Amino acid sequence: MIRLDVKNLHKTFTIHTQGGVRVNAFENINLSVKKGEFLSLYGPSGAGKSSILKTLFRTYTTSSGEINFYTDNGTLINIATASQSEILKLRKSSIGYVSQFLQILPRLSAVDVVSEQLVLKGESEEISRLKAKEMLSYLSIREELFNLSPLSFSGGEQQRVNIAKGIIAPKSLLFLDEPTASLDKTNTMKVIEKLKEIKKQGVAMIGIFHDLEAMQSISDSIYELKRVG
Ligand SMILES: Nc1ncnc2c1ncn2[C@@H]1O[C@H](COP(=O)(O)OP(=O)(O)OP(=O)(O)O)[C@@H](O)[C@H]1O
Ligand SMILES: [Mg+2]
Repeated sequence: MIRLDVKNLHKTFTIHTQGGVRVNAFENINLSVKKGEFLSLYGPSGAGKSSILKTLFRTYTTSSGEINFYTDNGTLINIATASQSEILKLRKSSIGYVSQFLQILPRLSAVDVVSEQLVLKGESEEISRLKAKEMLSYLSIREELFNLSPLSFSGGEQQRVNIAKGIIAPKSLLFLDEPTASLDKTNTMKVIEKLKEIKKQGVAMIGIFHDLEAMQSISDSIYELKRVG
């Protein structure tokens, strides 16, 4: 079952603060991802990988093309043209985005940040906290850090909390922009194992990895980008 079908997607940035200079980010992107499938974007720095994910998530607007999202009951929503309220609903119910960096409110502990995702899905507070701790341990976060704010953690620790938050209660479509960029090999492969589990649950994913071994071990297909312009 197709989850996302992208047709002839094109993005040009117009930089208004610099005399309206136009920068071509990507063009003629055609890709699709099925339920339970992992698609990787691969290509040189500046090729437009992050911009594509941001456009698919509607952080960026589309210059032209279609981003067709199919719900479980087959309803089609074109993310490129959907209203802002439809997009907000979609993000709440169906589409997640894991960036390289953790963005959280101060004073929340690592366990709060991760368990909140399960509570939002209707899980009890107690079970959510238990599962959050399990996930943090799995990703090698020391127990003494569980109740502290991740804002004081190291870069790699923050990234692991960010991944735990992003994957503990996955929605039906997940975008991942270099989620393992500052992790060592062991933790990178642990994340990959978790992503494989999520795939089995039917989550469709589009991801970017700088680690080729990680990319190859999780991907069902690889979409290669060349620099444009
Ligand atoms: N918000 C923006 N405004 C203007 N130009 C942008 C913006 N975001 C990206 N670009 C331009 O789009 C092009 C693609 O950038 P993007 O970040 O998507 O590349 P990337 O493939 O993710 O690279 P990297 O591997 O280095 O992360 C770049 O030339 C960049 O300058
Ligand atoms: Mg990028």
